[in-house]
Amino acid sequence: MSAVLEIRGLDKRFGGIVVADAIDLTLSAGRVVGLIGPNGAGKTSLFNLVSGIFPADAGTITLDGERIDRLKTHRRAARGLSRTWQNLRLFPSLSVLDNLMVGPRHYPGEKLWRLAFDRGGVRRREAETRRRALDVLERTGLAAVAKTRAADLTFGQQKLVGVARALMNESRCLLLDEPMAGVEGHAYETMQRVVRDVAASGVAVCVVEHNVAFIRDLCDEGVFMFAGKVLARGPVADLIADPRLTELYFGT
Ligand SMILES: Nc1ncnc2c1ncn2[C@@H]1O[C@H](COP(=O)(O)OP(=O)(O)O)[C@@H](O)[C@H]1O
Ligand SMILES: [Mg+2]
Repeated sequence: MSAVLEIRGLDKRFGGIVVADAIDLTLSAGRVVGLIGPNGAGKTSLFNLVSGIFPADAGTITLDGERIDRLKTHRRAARGLSRTWQNLRLFPSLSVLDNLMVGPRHYPGEKLWRLAFDRGGVRRREAETRRRALDVLERTGLAAVAKTRAADLTFGQQKLVGVARALMNESRCLLLDEPMAGVEGHAYETMQRVVRDVAASGVAVCVVEHNVAFIRDLCDEGVFMFAGKVLARGPVADLIADPRLTELYFGT
């Protein structure tokens, strides 16, 4: 089991609020870790620190053995750091396929002069992106709705498009922020299968989710966060059976 993402001694505070307090966390290839904890625990902030939305005050983050904590967001993405967002951030009027094809991170270093003078290269890369998008849509069970406007999908399908977009880079590590929030019905099985398939392909996955059954069914291991700290790590069933943790989860 090889470590893909290693977080060591990560600290972050906003004024008086401690969102990360000496966090150590390792995500390994092929494994799905469930990150649980009450609202405000710092789960989304941890994803923001890892993906580079804001810098940490202290600590290191390595991806496949290389420091990424000083890199810009798009550089981390280019190295295979993928994430979804709690609020979806799709383009509602674009087709599912186009939602996967747009986005600056898919064209790292694209320069204006290239667009003007290297039409062949731009076309080739666009064809590559399109092939990749169709492949990702196949993997996420969305091929049949490739031409559908994102706005016309069910909410569950929209959540899957969020995951599909995250897979457009060569993912090494996938961070999913509440993929099941607001989702009902058979999307449950589809999301489980998609995330398992991604992990099985060697990606290190971390899922934040309040749907405890979803986390228990999906994850190899759970991590419990509270007030910016990792308080416990172990089988999800053990964490949710721990009275001390359930009190923290529901008591505030
Ligand atoms: N950019 C920010 N500026 C100030 N406070 C923030 C910022 N981002 C998050 N916080 C605060 O950090 C705490 C943890 O929030 P968050 O990471 O969203 O928790 P969770 O995802 O576990 O519900 C909250 O108190 C939140 O208000
Ligand atoms: Mg959150």
